[in-house]
Amino acid sequence: MKDASPQPIRLADYHPPSHLVEAVELTFRLAPRGTRVRSKIRFRANPAGLENGNLRLDGENLRLVSCALDGTPLTALDYLLTPEGLTVPAERLPGPSFTWEAEVEIDPADNTALEGLYTSGGMFCTQCEAEGFRKITFYPDRPDVMAPFTVRIESDLPILLSNGNPAASGPGWAEWHDPWPKPAYLFALVAGDLVAHSDRFTTMSGRAVTLNIWVRPGDEDKCAYAMDALKRSMRWDEEVYGREYDLDVFNIVAVDDFNMGAMENKGLNIFNSKYVLASQKTATDRDYDFIESIVAHEYFHNWTGNRITCRDWFQLCLKEGLTVFRDQQFSADTRSAPVQRIEDVLQLRARQFREDAGPLAHNVRPDAYVEINNFYTATVYEKGAELIGMLRRIVGAQEYRAALDEYFRRHDGQACTIEDWLAVFEDVTGRDLSQFKRWYTQAGTPRVSAEWQVAEGRLHLRLAQELPPTPGQPLKEPVVIPVAMGLLSPEGAELLPETTVILDGPELTRDFDLDEMARRAGIARPDHVIPSLLRGFSAPVILDAGLSRADRLVLLAHDPDPFNRWEAGRSLMRETLMEMLTGGAPDPALFDALDRLLAEDRLDAAFRALCLALPSEDDMAQAAHDAGLVPDPTAIHATRRAMQVAMARALQPRLAALYDAMDPGPAYSPDADQAAKRALRNSALTLLARIEGPARAKAHYAAATNMTDEIAGFTTLLETGDPDIARRFHDRWKDDRLVMDKWFMAQVAHAAPEQAVAIAEALTDHPLFDWTNPNRFRSVIGGLTSGNPAGFHDPTGAGYRFLADWLIRLDAKNPQTAARMSTAFETWRRYDADRQALITGALDRIAAQDGLSRDLSEMVDRIRAA
Ligand code: BES
Ligand code: ZN
Repeated sequence: MKDASPQPIRLADYHPPSHLVEAVELTFRLAPRGTRVRSKIRFRANPAGLENGNLRLDGENLRLVSCALDGTPLTALDYLLTPEGLTVPAERLPGPSFTWEAEVEIDPADNTALEGLYTSGGMFCTQCEAEGFRKITFYPDRPDVMAPFTVRIESDLPILLSNGNPAASGPGWAEWHDPWPKPAYLFALVAGDLVAHSDRFTTMSGRAVTLNIWVRPGDEDKCAYAMDALKRSMRWDEEVYGREYDLDVFNIVAVDDFNMGAMENKGLNIFNSKYVLASQKTATDRDYDFIESIVAHEYFHNWTGNRITCRDWFQLCLKEGLTVFRDQQFSADTRSAPVQRIEDVLQLRARQFREDAGPLAHNVRPDAYVEINNFYTATVYEKGAELIGMLRRIVGAQEYRAALDEYFRRHDGQACTIEDWLAVFEDVTGRDLSQFKRWYTQAGTPRVSAEWQVAEGRLHLRLAQELPPTPGQPLKEPVVIPVAMGLLSPEGAELLPETTVILDGPELTRDFDLDEMARRAGIARPDHVIPSLLRGFSAPVILDAGLSRADRLVLLAHDPDPFNRWEAGRSLMRETLMEMLTGGAPDPALFDALDRLLAEDRLDAAFRALCLALPSEDDMAQAAHDAGLVPDPTAIHATRRAMQVAMARALQPRLAALYDAMDPGPAYSPDADQAAKRALRNSALTLLARIEGPARAKAHYAAATNMTDEIAGFTTLLETGDPDIARRFHDRWKDDRLVMDKWFMAQVAHAAPEQAVAIAEALTDHPLFDWTNPNRFRSVIGGLTSGNPAGFHDPTGAGYRFLADWLIRLDAKNPQTAARMSTAFETWRRYDADRQALITGALDRIAAQDGLSRDLSEMVDRIRAA
């Protein structure tokens, strides 16, 4: 086990490596319980390296068989070997350039952490990001050491894959060569009895690329959508960023046991099978959506991540924030841009704002970490992506593209920093981005408030920003906030074409001439004006727009910016729910407005479905906390239910009509158009079930010809209490792992709160509950913590005990996944004293475990502190 309280690694302590690698040759003789890895690594002293010049190699859980320098075997006296690695002192090195050779033995079948080389369902595969390569062989396992790799695999398994291009193969072996210098975290190897779904792609300069999606026999008919998404991603990156693929083959492999979603290894992406395999019968529209954007994301890393990588792990947002931004752009271009934006913001608020508001708040570029795996966070990813979007908005689309061209030109083949990235933008656009950089170095969500008056024919607008303290950062400097805005008349006429004001100090004021605006809009001078601020969510801030209910109803009905239209409705819904929570009744004007919006047939059905969705229970808990209340998860759950009933009653004829009108018909397609119809239709179904009972859902379930409709019927029937539905679904799908993940999850997420923990507990005894499989673990344990907040926060503390028990158990096998799931506790300070005591008790019990991993202990310490 790892050290009990390891020292944090700090950005300020960065030093260049003492040695660089010119070339790597690896030979794997695969065996589940004793794989031999031979390495031959050509090193050269780094002129920019530290004085001492020792050769430092990372290595963990390796049995060293032999090693040599320039052909001379080393004895144990020639190096220092610790559980973390191996050091050869400078004086034992033959000179500035030398060849290191080693043979090690590893145990892939025993590797339950799923980091390094491991086995999954009879195949071998690897996961090296961030620091998994050191579990494969001794190596400078840091991203600023880049080298070309040549790999030989020896195994009886039929398919043997690694990075780059195939070089040679014969019975029982294959060789691969990757000409592009890469850091070790992008290394990958796969061996198994696999079948390919293959295709071809011709790049913009006319080079032919073979595309393969490798899956287990039987799954080959579930690859078509991922392949289509891959080809569309490749074309899009050529057209929008001028980026061409650079190898002869591009391989994707689906594996069942995977900690994350997918990994961008050079030329050999490895995917959680959940994000590759799809068929009409087994995957929902949401699953298709994820497949498309994750395939795109990992493909886009080929340039933003692989060709240009990160100097150190503090710079993670350099590749992840940018690549998330790129995959969001791709999805916006492919599907509906406003719907994509709303979904991205929903996700940002649910995950990143939540993180920023609690003990785990950290910079987009952190200053220190104990375990880097704990920093693949919503802040690095999603806030990181928002920063790129703001930059693009500030410099404009053309200059953004010019800056990216220069970034690729200047830094191809390098390991870079945020400073490098911003310098490119400064050089290309002539701007000073030193203040913008604060977005990378200050944690927390800025709050922007707006005030305005209309007087003497002028609108006087004042915007102010405030940056609340976060752990370790009591005081902050103002950031650069682009506020896209428009102005509407009380009748909904647009008075001002969209413009962007930049709030870069504590406050800013602007005056608008109403006569002039009215003249240009061709209307009489209004005596009231409604600002539509932060259009398109132009900055990741919390806005207090200061709008009355009547103003927001105007925006909901008329704002030409679809994001702010939705936002106005969202804010009215949140306010209504908060009033109901404290005894009030919903305002019928909101339901009338929704009814009219639902009737607008020229509006995207997906947009209408989003307008109909209520803020989540977790959103409401945060809203209650922000309002100075102590959230009661049980009451929040009940209030949301009451609101659904009230909405269903008020909108019943409209919902019933939509249910009929939004049937896309028998020919299935996962495209945005059909998915939008199903989304709206299924929203109508679930709302109507609140007042009609289960008959419609029963018919819906029975008639379903795709998983989107089937799961909508299933979850609705779980909630309306069909006693037999779980068994029927189980009997139909028990042999399909991915569908069974949904079965496990749905029963917990849709349980009545007071039964949720008991149901989750019972499911962990089910013969198909394999807790070492991360997807299955997340289905049940995550089904409770994220899917059923009122159940998780059961006043007895049963949910907290359940989570703590499972985290302790999982941590011994898979620390990375255990640590991620511990974030369910991050909001503990919101709750009442009894719940706080129960949660801290659970955290303390975890912390007291012997041999707790560095991953989970860091998380528990950070959540508990602050
Ligand atoms: N590079 C990551 C995968 C990764 C994350 C490996 C953490 C090791 C540790 C990959 O590009 C990624 O970001 N995957 C995301 C999905 C993506 C669409 C945001 C994931 O796996 O969740
Ligand atoms: Zn990524």
